[in-house]
Amino acid sequence: MDQDELEEFFTTRRSVRNFDPARSVAKEQLALATTWALNTPSVCNRQAGRVYYFTEQSDVERVLRLQNGNAGFRSSVSAVAVVTVDSRLFTGATERNQRWVDGGLFAMTLVWALHGVGLQTCMLNWSATNKSSQRLRRETGIDGHEDIVVLIAVGHADQGHRVARSERRGLEQVMKFI
Ligand SMILES: Cc1cc2nc3c(=O)[nH]c(=O)nc-3n(C[C@H](O)[C@H](O)[C@H](O)COP(=O)(O)O)c2cc1C
Repeated sequence: MDQDELEEFFTTRRSVRNFDPARSVAKEQLALATTWALNTPSVCNRQAGRVYYFTEQSDVERVLRLQNGNAGFRSSVSAVAVVTVDSRLFTGATERNQRWVDGGLFAMTLVWALHGVGLQTCMLNWSATNKSSQRLRRETGIDGHEDIVVLIAVGHADQGHRVARSERRGLEQVMKFI
């Protein structure tokens, strides 16, 4: 990949909230993206990230109904990923937040990888109560030792879809040389 292609790759990912429901997502594409995401760095190489994909329409809607930020586009989503971390891989008070760092890195790499295989995504927050997490686990069969990091809506963007402007901060606000 040359610099222009990289620039194109990094500047064309945007959260999509308007998918083509008629286009399903191939499991092979999800598997390829996940294989790439295995390269995510992780603390002490513990590789705590896990991902559960739901691709049947009824499952997708059932899972999405448990999350609070997708009501406007739920019915157009072709697949949903639930990204978790295996909490058993972390220990002690000083590591209490490490799972969220490692899980977030895994989720972000996965989103880039899904972009790389030509799919569109929208991350969906799991800023939820323990009770909601227990319900999601119960409905999906996800084990109690897995902490839920984020959900990701996945699909093919609808033709002519529009994305939110989501203006970026200027580089000078974000980066400083010390
Ligand atoms: C952890 C996380 C949770 C998010 N949750 C939601 C959500 O619940 N619903 C939604 O429509 N977008 C959600 N988003 C998408 C953000 O709104 C979006 O990434 C941001 O506005 C920047 O836009 P962009 O992704 O198009 O660059 C989430 C993003 C992240 C990283």
